[in-house]
Order: sequence, then structure tokens, then C-alpha cells
Amino acid sequence: MDLGIAGRTAIVCGASRGIGRAIARRLAQERVHLVLAARDGLALAALAADIRSEHGVDVSEVAADLSLAAGRSTLLAACGDPDILVHNGAWPDENPDFRAWSRADWLRAMDAMLFAPVALITAVVEGMKARGFGRIVAVSSRFVKEPRLQHMLSVSPRLGLAGFMNGIGRAYVRHNVTANAMLTGIFETDTQIAFGHELARRSGRPFEQIWQERAATNAAGRFGRPEEIAALCAFLCSAHAGFVTAQNILIDGGGYPGVF
Ligand SMILES: NC(=O)c1ccc[n+]([C@@H]2O[C@H](COP(=O)([O-])OP(=O)(O)OC[C@H]3O[C@@H](n4cnc5c(N)ncnc54)[C@H](OP(=O)(O)O)[C@@H]3O)[C@@H](O)[C@H]2O)c1
Repeated sequence: MDLGIAGRTAIVCGASRGIGRAIARRLAQERVHLVLAARDGLALAALAADIRSEHGVDVSEVAADLSLAAGRSTLLAACGDPDILVHNGAWPDENPDFRAWSRADWLRAMDAMLFAPVALITAVVEGMKARGFGRIVAVSSRFVKEPRLQHMLSVSPRLGLAGFMNGIGRAYVRHNVTANAMLTGIFETDTQIAFGHELARRSGRPFEQIWQERAATNAAGRFGRPEEIAALCAFLCSAHAGFVTAQNILIDGGGYPGVF
């Protein structure tokens, strides 16, 4: 299916690895021009070179910390008028004991997972409206629907973002600007693999055994592949998805146990 977005321009945040990198590659397949952002400029440059040679689209890279206002300004100076904004990023390095979380921990989490996407969306949404096309997609987490106390440092800002995006998604849809979040289950990204190795180290058991056991607990019996969430993202960014807005869409291989 032709997604009808060839020639559009997308900002992809957190594109240096994992889900963000897969999304960048998938949008490039649709011949979308890209502005890639993350802190690791070397990884971005390598990805950009690959994508340029494979797909012939324009790709620029912005090495910036998007949890900081200065980083976001650098990104918006490079591309202030994207047709598509994919927000993806931080993994919380949280202590599971909520009693240990300080105000500074909360502010760091809020900056990275709420204020950063809110500021980027606010900066680009009016331009999208003026041009009559816009797609905003956030990579979020399944824990938004199934919160766990030990993860609330990341879930709380993501719940706030879900509320903000719901407002944006409904306020702008009549201008063909949509806003949706993807609620991810477990995907086999470098960060998840590193976490698997850390669990193996802590338990003294082989990585393979721990990896298989964790995958088997999901209804699908496996983790997701980054290309699978990238395909969903590409559809949400497509010309066909103008009636899908203000949604939090689970993509977790049946991991969530409820109906709604
Ligand atoms: N994979 C999963 O199983 C899973 C499950 C639930 C939720 N999620 C969420 O989905 C998102 C992507 O997951 P992933 O596994 O692909 O993570 P990942 O491999 O760690 O990738 C995260 C990306 O975000 C970038 N990033 C992080 N902090 C940033 C900052 N302050 N400024 C700019 N870029 C930043 C990283 O690049 P730099 O380090 O170069 O900046 C990297 O490109 C994360 O928010 C994660 O919490 C993932």
C-alpha cells in the first residue's frame, strides 16, 4: 500500500538506535525526508549515511539532548516545519522504590517524557494546521494502561502526555493534523538486550535462558521486533490515517490482559 507521504518531512526523535531507528528506516522506505535527533551524533551520522544511500531521501542529523530547551531549539532551528513529528526517547533509569524518588528525579523524568514532547508539539502544530497536514506520534508504554508503582516515575509523565495529546488530537484533526501514541510492550532493542544481560549477570543464569523465559510470558510468546512498531507508526503517519486521532494504541503482542 502506498502510504501517500512520499516527499513529506519527518522529525524522528531518539533515532540513534532501537525503535526510533527502525521508525526512521521505515519512513525512509516511504520516501519521507528525515531530520534525525538524539544525543549520539556518530550513531545518527552512520544511520543517515545508510538511509541516504539506500533510499535517496534527504536526511539531516541533529545531535542534541531533547530533554533540555537548548537541545530542542537546535532541533527546531534545523527543522521548524515538519509534516510529521515522531517523539521517542528516554528510558527512565529509575530506582524501583518510589520512596527514594526526589523532586530532582521527578523533574528530570517530567522534562524528558512530558515537557520535551509538549514543547516540540507546541512548536510545530500550528504550522501543520496552516499547511493542512500533520501527523504526531509518540512512542509511549503499555504501562500507561497497566501502571505499576515501581514504574510511576516514567508512567506519570506519559499519562500527562497522553492527556495533552488527546487534547491536541481532537483540537486539530479537522485541519488534518492527528496526534496518537503507541503503547509499546517489550521490543527486542539494544536497550532491552542490555537489560537482559544485566538480569543474567545479577542472577548468574545464562542470558539466553532469561531472554526466552521473559519472551514466553507474553501472549505472543516473543518480544516485538522494532520493524513491527515502525510499521504501525508509518501507518499512523500516512495519508490514510487522517481519521485516527487522540488514541493510545497498544502494540504488545497481546500482553495487556483487558478488553478496553
Ligand atoms: N523496547 C521496549 O521494550 C520498550 C518497552 C516500553 C517502552 N519503551 C519506550 O520506547 C522508547 C524507545 O525504546 P527503545 O528500546 O528503542 O530505547 P533505546 O534503544 O534506549 O533508544 C532510545 C532513543 O532515545 C534517544 N534518547 C534518549 N534520551 C534522549 C535525550 N535526552 N535526548 C535525545 N535523545 C534521547 C537515544 O539516543 P541517545 O542515547 O543517542 O540520545 C535513543 O536513540 C523509550 O522511551 C522506552 O521507554 C520501550
